[in-house]
Amino acid sequence: MRTITLINGDGIGPEISSAVIKIIDAAGLKIDWDVQTAGADVIEKEGTPLPERVLNSIKKNKVALKAPVTTPIGKGFRSVNVQLRKSLDLYANLRPCKNLPNVKTRFDGVDIVVVRENTEDLYAGIERQVDENSAESIKIITREASERICKFAFDYAVKNNRKEVCVVTKANIMKLSDGLFLESYRKIAEDYPTIHKCEILVDNLCMQLVQNPTQFDVLVLPNLYGDIVSDLCAGLIGGLGVAQGANIGADYAVFEPVHGSAPDIKGQNIANPTALLLSAVEMLKFIGEQSYAQKIEKALYKTLEQGVCTKDLGGSMSTTMFRDAIIANL
Ligand code: NAI
Repeated sequence: MRTITLINGDGIGPEISSAVIKIIDAAGLKIDWDVQTAGADVIEKEGTPLPERVLNSIKKNKVALKAPVTTPIGKGFRSVNVQLRKSLDLYANLRPCKNLPNVKTRFDGVDIVVVRENTEDLYAGIERQVDENSAESIKIITREASERICKFAFDYAVKNNRKEVCVVTKANIMKLSDGLFLESYRKIAEDYPTIHKCEILVDNLCMQLVQNPTQFDVLVLPNLYGDIVSDLCAGLIGGLGVAQGANIGADYAVFEPVHGSAPDIKGQNIANPTALLLSAVEMLKFIGEQSYAQKIEKALYKTLEQGVCTKDLGGSMSTTMFRDAIIANL
């Protein structure tokens, strides 16, 4: 039996992760979940929201499913998510954005995969106050990180039968930094003759995405543009309750929804488990459990097609009722 680290998170985390684990179990896939607590709830006892044992568990098991974790504001704690990405060198942030049945959005047929570089760019955290009236942030782009994220995007495209990988930059203005990212894309692209190439500036991409998003397939972007564009794409498919994600590195992978711990609806049994469930489906594909991934995805689609959904999508189902409807459709 495969062992996978499970971070239940806090806020709505335990409610949605319990639903997802029950669905995977009902699908017939036996997983030994190595449950690790993290976040606000463990700070008092262990002095940090991300104890070493959590990292050790992921290092041992290689793969983790993670529910959201609260980042305390103004207490000097770094975000658990940022720490996880850094400590495990999870360099690729993967966000597939695809329309779901019966989830009302502006466009049908959206099926975009955002591949965001996760380790550098303006997120390197190199900032300084120049004087009272000015500050600087340094944008770091390296050939090594750019080539590996572009290679990740092309490999993903090949593995998942995607047709095109489009690179997104502002290389007309940041000729050196974004220019290097673009140059890296062009070099890596040569190794993938079957995948269509495309280059677009980030401002034009944003306009095109809100006018005609179905023209895009896989997008590869430096960290900051990737962060912004992936939220835009989440909005295209129905918002936070359905937006899945993953952070993937050479050795480890952490699958998690885009949304946070939603303290405003904590404990009310109304949170939508779909984003975490779809993250889990992507995780199952990643570990080679394609048939279970498809089975669960099909049951989720069928449930939504039946008009059964949680409050955030306009329905009236509680988290547990929605879970049971999916289980009945497996
Ligand atoms: P949030 O994503 O938790 O909530 C934003 C809004 O969306 C809220 O109204 C919430 O009720 C709703 N929402 C989110 N997920 C939902 C779901 N599954 N079903 C139904 N409604 C849902 O963002 P917010 O409030 O800015 O952050 C809360 C905490 O979460 C913060 O401490 C933040 O640092 C943390 N956070 C953690 C993340 C992670 O662990 N990956 C990611 C983003 C935020």
